[in-house]
Amino acid sequence: MPQIFGPAVNTIATVSLFAGAVVPFALLLTGSALTSSPYNTKVTVPLDQPAPFSHRHHAVELGIDCRFCHVSVEESAQAGVPSTDVCMTCHSQIWTNSPNLEAVRKSLETATPIEWNKVNAVPDFVYFNHSIHVARGISCNNCHGAVNDMHITWKGNAFRMAWCLTCHENPQNYMYADPGSNLSPREQVFALYKKLAAGDKLTQVERQLADGLEQVMPADKVHEGYKLMNERGVNVSQLKDCYVCHH
Ligand code: HEC
Ligand code: HEC
Ligand code: HEC
Ligand code: HEC
Ligand code: HEC
Repeated sequence: MPQIFGPAVNTIATVSLFAGAVVPFALLLTGSALTSSPYNTKVTVPLDQPAPFSHRHHAVELGIDCRFCHVSVEESAQAGVPSTDVCMTCHSQIWTNSPNLEAVRKSLETATPIEWNKVNAVPDFVYFNHSIHVARGISCNNCHGAVNDMHITWKGNAFRMAWCLTCHENPQNYMYADPGSNLSPREQVFALYKKLAAGDKLTQVERQLADGLEQVMPADKVHEGYKLMNERGVNVSQLKDCYVCHH
């Protein structure tokens, strides 16, 4: 083929193509960056707390089940944050003089709850319910990020409506079961942390979750996602309806 355009023209063409493609994209990005930057929503930023409570230490290194502290997570809308008595089952004996436990001791002495700063929240006009998600086998990490790695708790996701809908529109992509296990969907949620505590081998999806990524089903396994959805009785027809989350 004869060379019609010289190298200079080529460069100009490349530059304008690049500019044409990148500028509108960059504008879009700055626009959305303003509303969803990590600064604005504090995603992945550990939040100051009255005591340096570590999930990594308690849930993985010590292997304490999430439900020991978040007692209502399977049965109700709220997961709940533990009372000082729960901490005292151990801390009346362990590390009783540690300055890091000052807030815990003070709470006990004055009989006032520790005022933990809230890490995650949705606005009041949004209805959310933990129990149904846990019953359907959706991992805590899918929404909260790598809790197992958190020394000080941070927010794994900003909980925007569009994010909730990504799953509500295609839950088959997020259904997951360890093929080698016959635990109920609910127990599978907690099995991940037990495996981490025991140092057991993780499946690919479990590895993803433990790293704080979402539990997306590999594309070639989506048929399994549909199967699990049927088995678990996921009612997908109403999941996108406004009233499900706004009532
Ligand atoms: C020994 C008790 C204990 C255990 C076990 C525990 N947590 Fe927590 N969790 C807490 C305390 C205390 C807080 C409040 C302080 C903070 O945010 O770190 C908390 C906060 C959280 C929050 C943030 C709450 C908010 O303000 O939005 C999430 C999410 C969470 N825990 C998930 C988990 C998961 C998942 C597990 C199991 C892997 C787990 N926790 C195990 C005590 C515990
Ligand atoms: C099942 C027992 C157990 C429970 C329940 C428990 N802890 Fe701990 N916690 C420990 C142990 C063990 C250590 C570890 C000390 C070490 O070896 O590093 C520890 C360490 C800590 C530390 C760090 C202490 C230091 O000096 O660095 C803090 C802070 C702490 N726990 C807060 C809490 C809070 C708050 C709760 C209640 C929400 C709680 N723990 C519940 C067993 C427990
Ligand atoms: C489908 C997403 C999703 C899953 C799965 C999920 N959470 Fe949450 N979690 C949320 C949202 C959204 C909030 C904020 C709720 C609010 O503001 O009322 C929240 C709040 C919390 C809180 C703060 C206290 C509270 O009840 O509001 C804790 C603690 C918590 N979650 C723990 C857990 C644990 C433990 C698991 C797994 C057993 C889990 N979450 C699974 C989305 C999720
Ligand atoms: C990873 C997937 C996933 C994500 C993310 C998710 N959900 Fe869901 N949600 C489900 C599934 C699955 C159900 C169960 C549907 C069924 O079985 O009927 C459900 C059910 C619900 C229900 C119905 C509860 C009831 O009592 O009927 C509400 C409300 C809800 N989700 C709110 C939210 C909100 C708000 C968010 C975002 C903060 C969210 N969900 C994020 C998967 C998800
Ligand atoms: C799966 C749950 C879910 C469903 C279904 C849902 N929403 Fe939302 N919606 C949310 C959450 C979470 C927020 C708060 C976070 C945000 O503003 O993105 C929200 C925020 C909003 C807001 C406020 C937006 C803002 O910028 O403050 C409006 C308006 C709204 N939703 C309307 C709707 C309408 C209309 C529908 C039906 C077409 C709908 N939602 C369906 C979860 C949901």
